[in-house]
Amino acid sequence: MIDLSVDLGGLKMRTPVTTASGTFGYGTEYVGATDYAKLGAVTVKGIRRDPWPGNAMPRHVEVFGGLVNAIGLQGPGVEAFASHYVKHYVKTVAEADAQERVPPMIVNIWGGSVEEYAEVAARLTQVGPPVEAIECNVSCPNVKEGGHTFGQDPAVLARLVKAVRAATTLPLIVKLAPNVPDIAPYAAACADNGADALALINTIPAMVIDIETRRPVLGNRTGGLSGRCVHPVAVKAVYDAHRRSRLPILAMGGVYEAKDAIELMLAGATAVAVGTATFTTPETAAKVCDGIAEYCERHGIAAARELTGALEE
Ligand SMILES: Cc1cc2nc3c(=O)[nH]c(=O)nc-3n(C[C@H](O)[C@H](O)[C@H](O)COP(=O)(O)O)c2cc1C
Repeated sequence: MIDLSVDLGGLKMRTPVTTASGTFGYGTEYVGATDYAKLGAVTVKGIRRDPWPGNAMPRHVEVFGGLVNAIGLQGPGVEAFASHYVKHYVKTVAEADAQERVPPMIVNIWGGSVEEYAEVAARLTQVGPPVEAIECNVSCPNVKEGGHTFGQDPAVLARLVKAVRAATTLPLIVKLAPNVPDIAPYAAACADNGADALALINTIPAMVIDIETRRPVLGNRTGGLSGRCVHPVAVKAVYDAHRRSRLPILAMGGVYEAKDAIELMLAGATAVAVGTATFTTPETAAKVCDGIAEYCERHGIAAARELTGALEE
């Protein structure tokens, strides 16, 4: 029996596989379509303080090897999430899977200011299990300070991480954007200000144009690229971050099969998240979990955590 458990910066996961934020709803949407017992955690869609409508339609378009989306972080706001969605998750998943312990929730958060992030983190901390970790999406505009994304200025990122750290006792994962010239100062801003883990990668800025109408396809004009085509970008980002930072890494980006997850673990990931693949094959995360166990078995590895950073160079 392979030991699949991992510790992601204080979050105890029974397997190294979770779902990527925004691709698994609020945790109940795939009940009956996948085996929750194989999920080390469920990561839910981004939550901010107030309800948020998201972007104009259309919000996603398929491209070669992936998807460009501009959902615009639609969500019910932290109060509705904390008082209704979490209870619904526990009840629905526990009933459907007859599980004693539902997978812990990693709650992805965002906001328009440092203060908003801290407020949302504080409210989520009061909820208790299954809310067991916070993942900060820093790829959204800092409305209060000029509109650039939080994750694209190490000084702003440092302030954000410090404020959220002070607001929560939960494991704090900071989800970085891949489109920076060097990941090191961003990873350092996280480590130096109390983050427990990094998440890599968010979507890559992208755009699709309809040549007949000569208009952008997405209502928001631009969006973020995800899916198979971003996988090698994720591997490189994780490899760089693992070499330059001591923080454990939750990796995502084009995980469709176990071999994609194992690649990310060898590059330095402690755990992996399945995103876009879930839209076409809902049971992908569960299958990835089985495939990691099978790989460990075949290679005489007793515990999946031994794969982390085990790249031969
Ligand atoms: C439709 C959609 C919605 C997403 N929503 C969020 C979100 O709310 N917060 C966030 O941090 N990332 C969000 N992401 C990014 C994913 O969590 C993930 O980082 C990215 O898609 C790369 O993984 P993948 O290639 O396996 O999809 C979203 C991605 C997609 C495709």
